[in-house]
Amino acid sequence: MRKKIIAGNWKMNKLRGEAVELVKELVPLVEGIDAVDIVVCPVYVSLPAVYEIIKDTNIELGAQDCFWEDSGAYTGEISAPMLKDVGVKYVVIGHSERRQYFCETDEWVNKKTKAALKTGLTPIVCVGERLEEREAGKTIDVISGQLEGGFSGFEKAEIEKCVIAYEPVWAIGTGKTATPEQAQEVHSFIRGWLAEKFGKDVSEKIRIQYGGSVKPANAKSLLSQPDIDGALVGGASLKAQDFAEIVKAGL
Ligand code: 13P
Repeated sequence: MRKKIIAGNWKMNKLRGEAVELVKELVPLVEGIDAVDIVVCPVYVSLPAVYEIIKDTNIELGAQDCFWEDSGAYTGEISAPMLKDVGVKYVVIGHSERRQYFCETDEWVNKKTKAALKTGLTPIVCVGERLEEREAGKTIDVISGQLEGGFSGFEKAEIEKCVIAYEPVWAIGTGKTATPEQAQEVHSFIRGWLAEKFGKDVSEKIRIQYGGSVKPANAKSLLSQPDIDGALVGGASLKAQDFAEIVKAGL
């Protein structure tokens, strides 16, 4: 049995004080839940403040990106060891917004994922098709291209430490959720791809999250699909009550 993982990607939201308030509200709402891994991913500058609140709780800290070098002349970037140093355990890599607005490529995703693993962070590697790609019947081609590029040169021992997030771009922030069946179809493809490349034992261990307009109202039906092992939640993770309900839907 794969333990479900519910992660809140706060994106570029919340000032430090607001981030602290949000997580202070969340802590008691999810207290005692250990059958689901719970992660919050604030902006970089709020990581230490949020860590102070959650360090002795069942909530883990995640970041929204990292660079692949440990240090050096890379103005504006943050490395995996710097994240680990402030209490980060998980890092989102290759989110569609980074691919869209910051020209992230599969090659970058590959390097960043390797850097995260080398540092002992758990990467949450995002894949997903755009609307026009789905409408052109190219969903599976796009996902397999992102997996091939993102995990090129990976060993079994590396990939089994990763979490994968399937986030159809057309469902992000739009209120349009993939139906549980649409999501399951792609999750099952991803698991099949993992089995083919790395073996069935590895594919059965890896957790695949769904992301895209996950809310309390649809979380249970998505999370009850056989290959959906969690959720990467955007908008709804900015409300403690809603996020806690989504966490409980994973029980
Ligand atoms: P929404 O839940 O706001 O659609 O965002 C999903 C997402 O991109 C999480 O990474």
